[in-house]
Amino acid sequence: MTRTDKDNISKRTENRHLLRRVRAGLAAVKSTPYKGLLLGAYLAGAVLVWLLRAHLFSLNTYGMFSPVLGAAVDLLVPLYAVGGLLALLVLMGTPWGGRTAREGLQKTGLVNHAGEAPVLVSKRQDGEHSRLTVWEFDPCGIPLNEWEDKRARVETALNITIAKMAWGEGRKIIRVYAVPAESDFPALLRWKDKYLSLDSFVLVLGESLTGPVTVNLAHVPHILLGGSTGSGKSVLLKLLLMQSLRKGAEVYIADFKGGVDFPKVWHTKCRMCFTEEDLLYTLNQLAAVLEYRKGRLAETGCPNLDAYNEATGEGLPRLIFACDEVAEVLDRTGRSKEDKERLGQIENKLSTIARLGRAFGIHLILSTQRPDAAVIPGQIKNNLDFRVCGRADNVLSQIILDNTSAAEQIPKDARGRFITGDGTVFQGYLFDEGRL
Ligand SMILES: Nc1ncnc2c1ncn2[C@@H]1O[C@H](COP(=O)(O)OP(=O)(O)OP(=O)(O)O)[C@@H](O)[C@H]1O
Ligand SMILES: [Mg+2]
Repeated sequence: MTRTDKDNISKRTENRHLLRRVRAGLAAVKSTPYKGLLLGAYLAGAVLVWLLRAHLFSLNTYGMFSPVLGAAVDLLVPLYAVGGLLALLVLMGTPWGGRTAREGLQKTGLVNHAGEAPVLVSKRQDGEHSRLTVWEFDPCGIPLNEWEDKRARVETALNITIAKMAWGEGRKIIRVYAVPAESDFPALLRWKDKYLSLDSFVLVLGESLTGPVTVNLAHVPHILLGGSTGSGKSVLLKLLLMQSLRKGAEVYIADFKGGVDFPKVWHTKCRMCFTEEDLLYTLNQLAAVLEYRKGRLAETGCPNLDAYNEATGEGLPRLIFACDEVAEVLDRTGRSKEDKERLGQIENKLSTIARLGRAFGIHLILSTQRPDAAVIPGQIKNNLDFRVCGRADNVLSQIILDNTSAAEQIPKDARGRFITGDGTVFQGYLFDEGRL
């Protein structure tokens, strides 16, 4: 593409945007009272100039030239008035900072093949989340995945932290939902009891830029947490278990780390497994409960636990099985034949619960820090639908989320910062175990 071609394309883009800005200006006049007043004042001024034109331009003092001048003024005043009106509408339809934004994006290399950067067409507060500003861009042919790839650069160029990016108006515009960079996530968010959700069975994980992040186990039954060491997995896991206990669930915990992660206070409220034998025994029990519930639900014709409880008034609790560092537990390398057999059975039971637990109110919350795909079998992993990953490298992020967003979007020094499978970044609540 030659320089002239590029210049032509760029001119046409500008003309297109001029029209769009006039339209946006008209919309702004309708929606913003002070802009309507401004336009009214301008029109009133133009009418005044028109009515007083003979006096203002002293038309009768030019003798024989007066009629010619009069005709010229009659022609030019309306022309100027219309020109001024259009200029005013363009001005009102142009978002603040549009030029700076475009130049910023140009510098980051977010340009199309003609070298054009996206054009900011509007900037407004989000109706749903008042903290968020919505930047609407004409992407000038740059697809959304390229924006995603250059997310960090877009953030720097516009001095914002992006909550999400999405297509709008079909595929005509790209919306960037963001907050100013300086109002980024807080490093620490303390749990407060009032955050506990009243809905069964909704657990709260933390806060994203758009509000609380929650998971409803009645809809998404199992959770997989990932993150490198020190990313905050255990704290998040315990936050979820604490809420489950408060909601009346029975909690089963496999803890092979010698009680480092689950101090005594947990032992009084949860069923703990410290050995593989014990773990297998517990999983067998859970599988037996699953079978029992399956029978009861079939007999009563109820589709799920909530319906069953409502129909029978029995109040069967949800059962939550949690295992921190599950990859360590399931790893068979260097183990004896007998151990391997037991691990195979453990895996089997986990897999059964993962497949069938949803309707019967039996849930898994598993965490891992190992970027090792082989250790968690597909049958289990594929059924853990709610995925959350903290600070991680590309491999671990890929294993947990099936993409590298955790490696790209979670800062290396972040603690308790996670990203969900659908790309929502949040800061997890930190809670005091003493008050379990
Ligand atoms: N939500 C949070 N907010 C603030 N700080 C946190 C949060 N979660 C964890 N931390 C800090 O990070 C430290 C490590 O957290 P945690 O033990 O949960 O990490 P982990 O991922 O389980 O690490 P490991 O793999 O070593 O077990 C905690 O002691 C705490 O100081
Ligand atoms: Mg841990």
